[in-house]
Amino acid sequence: MAVRSLCTGNLLNIFVSKNLSSPACIKLSSTWSNVEMGPPDAILGITEAFKKDSSPSKINLGVGAYRDDNGKPFVLECVKKAEQALMGGNLDKEYAPIGGTPEFCLETAKLAFGDNSPVIKDGRNMTVQGISGTGSLRIGAAFFSKFYSKGKDFWIPTPSWGNHTPIFKHAGLEVKSYRYYDPSTCGFDFSGAMEDISKIPEGNVIVLHACAHNPTGVDPKPEQWKEMSALIKKKKLFPFFDMAYQGFASGDTTRDAFALRQFIEDGHEVALAQSYAKNMGLYGERAGAFTIVCGSKEEADRNMSQMKIIIRGMYSSPPIHGARIVTKVLTTPELKNLWLGEVKGMADRIITMREKLVAGLAKEGSSRNWQHIIDQIGMFCFTGLKPDQVERLTKEFSIYLTKDGRISVAGVSSSNVDYLARAMHAVTK
Ligand SMILES: Cc1ncc(COP(=O)(O)O)c(C=O)c1O
Repeated sequence: MAVRSLCTGNLLNIFVSKNLSSPACIKLSSTWSNVEMGPPDAILGITEAFKKDSSPSKINLGVGAYRDDNGKPFVLECVKKAEQALMGGNLDKEYAPIGGTPEFCLETAKLAFGDNSPVIKDGRNMTVQGISGTGSLRIGAAFFSKFYSKGKDFWIPTPSWGNHTPIFKHAGLEVKSYRYYDPSTCGFDFSGAMEDISKIPEGNVIVLHACAHNPTGVDPKPEQWKEMSALIKKKKLFPFFDMAYQGFASGDTTRDAFALRQFIEDGHEVALAQSYAKNMGLYGERAGAFTIVCGSKEEADRNMSQMKIIIRGMYSSPPIHGARIVTKVLTTPELKNLWLGEVKGMADRIITMREKLVAGLAKEGSSRNWQHIIDQIGMFCFTGLKPDQVERLTKEFSIYLTKDGRISVAGVSSSNVDYLARAMHAVTK
């Protein structure tokens, strides 16, 4: 008997034949037959198309992961050393505590707020390990959904990281947006942002990219952060920082924490999601953290007990390996120094590529102003290329990027930057 199944529309057809010449068709409707095919992930779709392209000069500028100057994934030396040290220690594979280990949480909070921050000294941070930045945002969103009663709307910048809306919506929160990027300058729309923020109803939550805004690479200047902080305070909004790139923007972890620390100095209560994916290259290890700053240690302890109840029901406890690496790096002075140097190395390579791309465009004879490529910061750059120009880059030059003109500068290297400049000039002249 030959059995063959075909899924057509919402019916599952099963052909059963005793001999191959006379098939009989039995139609069964399946429980899942009404589930429609979802759209492919925009970024992963780009990578798929890139893989299929046989051009030797193809470039993938879609992926948000760091590449070295040879275009290869990069495992930090401090991470390799930490792993070697850990392996020598005969480790168990027991469950982590629900909120992660206290050491990991303390070191992670210290990295964000500063060793001498009053938040840390007074133990006012309720910090738990999350599943990288995404999972930390998600448990944070769940916590807000359950316990934050001053307003349910989460205000994100336009544009924002594509996952913000689904993460917050999954937690039952409403998502709204405020102006952020100005396409006419390829820079920050400060007056638009301030105007919109001033209209957000009291008690709502405002999501802020602490540094290296994704997808635009456009960050407010320190003076602008100060004004935003004052307005957000006056409007009684709740600042929720997403810090997925600490150190990766400027190369300096303290400088990249400026906005967060300014808000603390200004007396805000803040929420914070952190990730070690980019700055420690621990993408697949899923190490990150979620913090809320409380009024006292006792209050932090109470909130922690509730956070644990939420986590227990979602995934029980976080993964251990990445968190062990982070803890080892941050608590071993020699490894921490090595890490700080390596973060700077990654940030500097990206900054250099931005400069080389702009120099290359000038060399090609482009009369357009590309200064924003240098002014923007972090892994991503909003080039200002229009969808038809992006399409030409892909079709004619095998250069892959998202339709909005965003490039991951991490995908640019010494060996492809001139080709990229030539192609960008060709589609924009
Ligand atoms: C703004 C922003 N937040 C959070 C994340 C979370 O990343 P992960 O879950 O890999 O740590 C990313 C990653 O691209 C991001 O760009």
